[in-house]
Amino acid sequence: MIDAKTRICCVIGNPIEQSISPLVHNAAYKTLDLNYVFLTFKVTRVKEALAGLKAINAAGISVTIPHKLEVLKYVDEVDKIAADIGAANTIVNKNGRFVATNTDWIGALKALEEETSLLHKRVALLGAGGAARALAYGLVKKKAKVYVFNRSYETAYQLVQDFKLEKEYSLSDMYKIKDMDIIINTTSVGMTPNNDSLVPFNYIKSDHVVFDIVFKPKETKLIQYAKAKKATVVYGYKMLLHQAVEQFKLFTGVDAPFKVMQRSLRLQGPPLRG
Ligand code: ATR
Repeated sequence: MIDAKTRICCVIGNPIEQSISPLVHNAAYKTLDLNYVFLTFKVTRVKEALAGLKAINAAGISVTIPHKLEVLKYVDEVDKIAADIGAANTIVNKNGRFVATNTDWIGALKALEEETSLLHKRVALLGAGGAARALAYGLVKKKAKVYVFNRSYETAYQLVQDFKLEKEYSLSDMYKIKDMDIIINTTSVGMTPNNDSLVPFNYIKSDHVVFDIVFKPKETKLIQYAKAKKATVVYGYKMLLHQAVEQFKLFTGVDAPFKVMQRSLRLQGPPLRG
């Protein structure tokens, strides 16, 4: 029942059609009988969108591509996590003030830790953008040894400096991945319609843990390679699920019904089935 007391949450981004956040959050509201609704907004003008959402007292905002950096300029407060990462995927309404934070890093850690410990593990982090920064933030907390592999050297170098990581490599150094324990793709390579992998098939070993944060398709080329080599795989949708669980708690103040949210993803259709 939507009425005058219904609290509004939403996701803003562009494109936004691929977002599965409404599905996951609304399933949880329904199960717990919370008077909340989660909507999707295709947004190009971030400043105006946030002003409008504030005017209607929206309870929480999930932020996706390409606005994770820009929102930092238009909120009332950026918490330390979002400031350290340099990007926000979450805005929480705290007594009328919009506070930006980041739950991507928790989502990624939880997804990884379902399959492996991280302490002292050698991690190849592919990419050096916003998503890579969230991963780096979490991996450092867990005392993993992080090596950044990126197309452009400058951003890789900067990432290594900012988070005191081990070393930056170019993509032509990819053979070094054989010495790593964990491989994490944070680039958009592999995302529909680009069916490619930055890591060649021959470099993947059975004792690797391979995590692709790309979730469409569920089975990216990198994940396909990893499965063929009998490596341990971590699917991108797991990160999405765990970060949504964290957001849910921040938006509603209530513990998230994890199983319900997980099931809502399975019901979604072929790309996430398996
Ligand atoms: P996000 O916030 O999702 O991380 P981003 O900040 O635009 O997005 O970062 C994208 C990352 O994917 C970058 O590390 C980018 O490499 P560059 O720093 O060289 O731009 C990487 N990336 C994107 N497309 C790529 C491609 N076709 N080949 C290799 N790396 C790619």
